[in-house]
Amino acid sequence: MDPLLVAILSFSTFIAFSNGVQFSKLNHIGINYGRQGDNLPSPYRSIEYIKSMKAGIVKLYDADPETLKLLAGTGLRVSIMVQNGEIFNIASNESIAKKWVRDNVLAYYPRTMIRYIMVGNEVYGNQTLTQWKALVLAMQHVKNCLRNHNIHNIKIGAPMAMNVMSLSFPPSNGTFHAESLSTVVPLLQFLNKTSSFFFLNVFPYFPWAKNPENISLNFALFKGGNLSYTDPGSGLVYTNLLDQMLDSVHFAMAKLGFRHISIAISETGWPNDGDLDQPGANIHNAATYNRNLIHKMATNPTLGTPARPGVIIPTFLFSLYNENLKNGPGTERHWGLLHPSGSPLYSIDLTGTRYHFEPLPKPQNNRAYEGQVWCVLARFANMSGLGPLLSDMCRQLDGTCETALGPGKACYEPVSLTWHASYAFSAYWAKYRDSGDPCYFNGLASLTTIDPSKCRF
Ligand SMILES: *[C@@H]1O[C@H](CO)[C@@H](O)[C@H](O)[C@H]1NC(C)=O
Ligand SMILES: *[C@@H]1O[C@H](CO)[C@@H](O)[C@H](O)[C@H]1NC(C)=O
Ligand SMILES: *[C@@H]1O[C@H](CO)[C@@H](O)[C@H](O)[C@H]1NC(C)=O
Ligand SMILES: *[C@@H]1O[C@H](CO)[C@@H](O)[C@H](O)[C@H]1NC(C)=O
Ligand SMILES: *[C@@H]1O[C@H](CO)[C@@H](O)[C@H](O)[C@H]1NC(C)=O
Ligand SMILES: *[C@@H]1O[C@H](CO)[C@@H](O)[C@H](O)[C@H]1NC(C)=O
Ligand SMILES: *[C@@H]1O[C@H](CO)[C@@H](O)[C@H](O)[C@H]1NC(C)=O
Repeated sequence: MDPLLVAILSFSTFIAFSNGVQFSKLNHIGINYGRQGDNLPSPYRSIEYIKSMKAGIVKLYDADPETLKLLAGTGLRVSIMVQNGEIFNIASNESIAKKWVRDNVLAYYPRTMIRYIMVGNEVYGNQTLTQWKALVLAMQHVKNCLRNHNIHNIKIGAPMAMNVMSLSFPPSNGTFHAESLSTVVPLLQFLNKTSSFFFLNVFPYFPWAKNPENISLNFALFKGGNLSYTDPGSGLVYTNLLDQMLDSVHFAMAKLGFRHISIAISETGWPNDGDLDQPGANIHNAATYNRNLIHKMATNPTLGTPARPGVIIPTFLFSLYNENLKNGPGTERHWGLLHPSGSPLYSIDLTGTRYHFEPLPKPQNNRAYEGQVWCVLARFANMSGLGPLLSDMCRQLDGTCETALGPGKACYEPVSLTWHASYAFSAYWAKYRDSGDPCYFNGLASLTTIDPSKCRF
């Protein structure tokens, strides 16, 4: 971090502590505890890590009984989640909602300090329309059950991704998708009435990575210095990309008449590694993003955003671990603060009081690799699922496999499953990469800069 920025941030710490003591009592920085890995520490060890990192809140993607039991008496506030697949039933039958609350809340509360219930995750755009339509009713049912038990300190929310927006730039033009409104409007009414948050999964990494020519990396990493953007619609001045994204949602809500719903960031972070063709995914940037984010949110929590100054934004970092079973491009498996072994990828202080950290490795990939890359069988691939995957791929390649890999054909030699698989992966990826298919294939494939053979794709 440059010395000037350190000086400015230290100054704001001073202000925060001199006139904002009440805010330093509760740490509003949480951690998402995702468990999509086959090599992760036990819930017991994981909670120890989360405590030692001094997080204020832990957010689960389920309501795992063992984890909820272990969280009792830890002082950590907790967010649990209704699975997307449970939404419809909870909405359509109140006794199912009651049972859900009994089994997943009352069984642990108040010893386990459950403070948030997330109903579904990123339901818009991914899930079936039935789930989307049922969302608010499910939230209402859960809320009613809690009220009947005289529980008033648990907020109900529904994390949305930025895909719920049809326009997010400039921020003052922020608009929700027209076809989302039949649920977004009742959702906002519910959040407004219950004083809950609009939970947003928001990753400046994605717009930056899509458009690194036109968005400064420093702007995305909160180190723009004197870089700023003035929104022509509102005249507000932005010094970082996250504020722009948050305000696009603030403006979209305001256009629907909701000017007082606060945002909580249910997920944010920066990938610490990724595929060759993904720029900027490295430890340097991940540490810089998360450290600067924490300084913004924890050290001076009432900073808010240009459109909503003075408002605290509870913020959940994504994620505790690198999770090796997540699908998609390489970045998806590299959002962690910790290796699966429990050792940190870089040091981080969730209280926002630490300014001096060990120097970070120099970023090597802030631009995507520009040479040719090939998608081949990964070096340590588990071959047992390969056969069916290959036949499936070759079917979708309309004869390409037969034409190239048959005896005597151009790519027949060397005759090995490894080579033929690499051929099929490369051909498939070459065909579908532009429509967003990652080179992953259940973890069997990875990108290489080394031409796997004389047979080119
Ligand atoms: C609601 O769920 C309960 C418990 O699963 C079941 O007994 C009841 O028949 C359901 N009611 C309706 C209307 O589906
Ligand atoms: C859609 O939701 C399911 C869980 O319900 C999740 O496993 C999957 O990754 C999601 N897909 C996308 C593209 O977000
Ligand atoms: C913002 O929205 C207004 C009204 O829809 C439109 O006229 C204007 O061009 C938009 N601004 C930008 C920069 O897209
Ligand atoms: C970057 O900005 C230029 C000039 O406004 C525009 O022509 C170009 O399409 C932009 N690039 C991307 C990837 O959006
Ligand atoms: C601020 O802007 C000046 C020029 O306008 C530039 O020389 C300087 O490097 C900038 N500082 C930072 C921290 O970006
Ligand atoms: C939001 O809630 C407040 C307080 O209950 C109420 O006065 C206001 O009308 C609500 N706003 C909307 C747009 O429903
Ligand atoms: C390989 O994958 C199969 C399922 O496809 C699984 O049963 C097996 O345990 C895996 N082997 C290793 C070493 O991971």
